[in-house]
Amino acid sequence: MKVAMVTGGGSGMGRSVCLHLAQRGDAVAVVDRDADAAEHVAEEIRSAGGTAAALETDVSDRAQVDETVAKIRADLGPIGVLVTSAGISGFTPFMEITTEAFEQMLAVNLTGTFHCVQSAIPDMIDSGWGRIVLVSSSSAQRGGPGMAHYASSKGGVFALTKSLALEFAPLGITVNNIAPSSIETPMHAGARAAGKLSSVEEASARMPVKRLGTGDDIAAAALFLVSDEASYFTGQTMGVNGGSYI
Ligand SMILES: NC(=O)c1ccc[n+]([C@@H]2O[C@H](COP(=O)([O-])OP(=O)(O)OC[C@H]3O[C@@H](n4cnc5c(N)ncnc54)[C@H](O)[C@@H]3O)[C@@H](O)[C@H]2O)c1
Repeated sequence: MKVAMVTGGGSGMGRSVCLHLAQRGDAVAVVDRDADAAEHVAEEIRSAGGTAAALETDVSDRAQVDETVAKIRADLGPIGVLVTSAGISGFTPFMEITTEAFEQMLAVNLTGTFHCVQSAIPDMIDSGWGRIVLVSSSSAQRGGPGMAHYASSKGGVFALTKSLALEFAPLGITVNNIAPSSIETPMHAGARAAGKLSSVEEASARMPVKRLGTGDDIAAAALFLVSDEASYFTGQTMGVNGGSYI
């Protein structure tokens, strides 16, 4: 049994990762800025016999992250697994992206990831074992019109993955990232409702595997990456993208 901290655990792929980690016996800290969503997922886990705590946290706020990590340590134990799925997206033509919007994107998707890793990793250093999975995006691999701010923030996650992997490999800690594409979650449905993405049917037809991804697809990748067996796998990007970017 490990103690796992999952940011963005209240929705979408973060929720799926929480449920799967709980099924394998981990104690799960469901971290999300949406307190009700986090509590709902924690309750799902507890009612299935698992161990979970919900922690309302804005990952872009360092003090909140540090407070949350301290609570997880006190209530569940030292953190061994960290999955960062908290994120925001946006589709804005480049010339209309304000400095504030650009900085907000970085604050949540990149600086928020930095905060969580730096706050949680001392437990992994102390125990000589750790698994960190950062959620990036295929948009950082291929770019996208209207996605300069989002793709830039996720590109930073790729660079962070590689640097952390090399720095912490000698200490028994692996750091990898999952680069999803077209995963059917509330974020994806919201972008579709706003007219920024094509219909499920059209998008599925374009996919080599002829369907969109699910939270379970992401959880399957995450569960491998956080396993003991994945100790020779670090600094890598796992593209969970239906073959849409190879
Ligand atoms: N859905 C996709 O197709 C797709 C593709 C590529 C990358 N991603 C990335 O995957 C991750 C998860 O996305 P999802 O599709 O599950 O989205 P989602 O919106 O369903 O879930 C994201 C969760 O993050 C939380 N969150 C947002 N800002 C936060 C903050 N500042 N602090 C704490 N929690 C915060 C939200 O409340 C929400 O519960 C995101 O980082 C997203 O950028 C998604």
